Amino acid sequence: MILQMVRELVAEKVAPRAAEIDEKEEFPQDIKELFAQNDLLGIPIPAEYGGLGGTFLTYVKVVEEIAKACASSSLIVAVQELGMLPILIGGSEEQKKRFLPDIASGKKIAAYALTEASSGSDALGSMRTRAERKGDSYILNGQKIWITNGSVADVVCVFAVTDPSAGSRGVSAFVVEKGMKGFSVGKKERKMGIRGSPTVELIFDDCEVPAANRLGEEGEGFKIAMKVLDKSRPGIAAQALGIAAGALDYATNYAKERIAFGKPIGQHQGVGFMLADMKTEVEAARMMLYEAARKCDENAPDVTLWASMAKLKCGDVAMSVTTDAVQVLGGFGYSSEYPVERMMRDAKITQIYEGTQQIQRLVISRAMVGKGK
Ligand code: CAA
Repeated sequence: MILQMVRELVAEKVAPRAAEIDEKEEFPQDIKELFAQNDLLGIPIPAEYGGLGGTFLTYVKVVEEIAKACASSSLIVAVQELGMLPILIGGSEEQKKRFLPDIASGKKIAAYALTEASSGSDALGSMRTRAERKGDSYILNGQKIWITNGSVADVVCVFAVTDPSAGSRGVSAFVVEKGMKGFSVGKKERKMGIRGSPTVELIFDDCEVPAANRLGEEGEGFKIAMKVLDKSRPGIAAQALGIAAGALDYATNYAKERIAFGKPIGQHQGVGFMLADMKTEVEAARMMLYEAARKCDENAPDVTLWASMAKLKCGDVAMSVTTDAVQVLGGFGYSSEYPVERMMRDAKITQIYEGTQQIQRLVISRAMVGKGK
C-alpha cells in the first residue's frame, strides 16, 4: 500500500518537478512537505517515537521509487534517515523522545556531519573538529564540509574529537540544534548533480552544546558513526538503483519508438543487447540491495559487509546504466531536454558519498580477511 501511494505521488507531484528542481538548484520545500504529510520521513523510526515503525526493506523501496524520477527528492527521505540514525542507535531514551517525533513528522530536518576538509575517507584519523568539556556543556570548534541538507537542517548529529590521544575512542557524537550560539552555515557547493539537495559547510566557533545533547558515552562517537553508515549505505544504494531503473525505463521506451533503418532501434542488436545488459545489471543490483535491507532489519552480524556490497554494486550500476541510457538516446540523451542527462549527472555522486567505491571495497575486504596492522 505504501509503495502504491508513493508511485502515485511520484507520478503526480515529483516527476513533473524534477527538471525544475535540478535547474533552480533549490531545496524543494513543497516536496519535503508532501513527504511529511504522507509519513515518508520516519519510515524506520519506531512507532513509540512517532515513526511508521516500518522495515528497512520498505524504506529502501520508497527511496528507490522516488529516485526513479528525482534523485534530489529521494535524498530528502534518505538523509532524514541518516540524520536520525545516530539518535536511534546511540541516544538515550530521553533523547529519542526529545528528538525523534519531530524528525519523524518532518517538523524538523535532520543531518549528519562527519566529513571535514581533510577528513573524507579517513574519517577517524584526520578528524580535527574538537569538543572540549566545560561544566555541563561542550565547546565545539571546527568545520564540517559536504553536509547534505546542512543549510535546511534543524538538528545535526556532529562528530568531534574529545580526546586526541584515544584513537577510535576519542570521538564523541553531539546533537547540535539550529540557533545554538557559535553554529553557522558556510559555503554552499555548486555540484554536477543532486542539485536540489543543498550541500554546505558547517562552522562551529566556540559553539556551546549542552552535555545532555551528547549521544552515548564520551568516546563512543566513532562507533556510532560507523554503525549509522551500516544502515544508511543501503539508502544510498536505493537512490542509485532508482536512478538506474528510471534511466532504463526511459531508454527502453525510447528504443521502442525511435525508428532507424526501418525499425525501432531496440530491435537492432547493437541497442537491444545494451538494453539486455542494463536490465540484467539493474535486477542483480536490486536483489543485492533488498538482501542488504533484510540484513538491516535482522541486525545481522554481516550487515557491514552487505551494506557496502549493496552500495558498491548499485552505485556502479547507476553510473554504467545512466551512461548507456544517454548513448541509447544519442544526441537527445546529451540534451537537458531529456531526463537521462540529469540522471547521469545525479548517478555520479552515488559512487562518492557515504564512502567512495574504494572505501566500500576496503570495508568488504576487511570483513573477508581482516584489517591487519
Ligand atoms: N560498526 C561498529 N564499529 C565499527 C564499524 C562498524 N561498522 N566499523 C569500524 N568500527 C570500529 C572498529 O571496530 C574500530 O574499533 P576499535 O578501535 O575498538 O578496534 C574503530 O571503529 C575504528 O575502525 P577501523 O580501525 O576500521 O578504522 P579505520 O580508520 O582503519 O577505517 C573506515 C575506518 C572504514 C575507513 C571509515 O573511516 C569509513 O567508513 N570511511 C568513509 C567515511 C564515509 O563513509 N563518510 C560518509 C560521510 S556521510 C555522507 O556522505 C552522507 C551524505 O552526504 C548523504
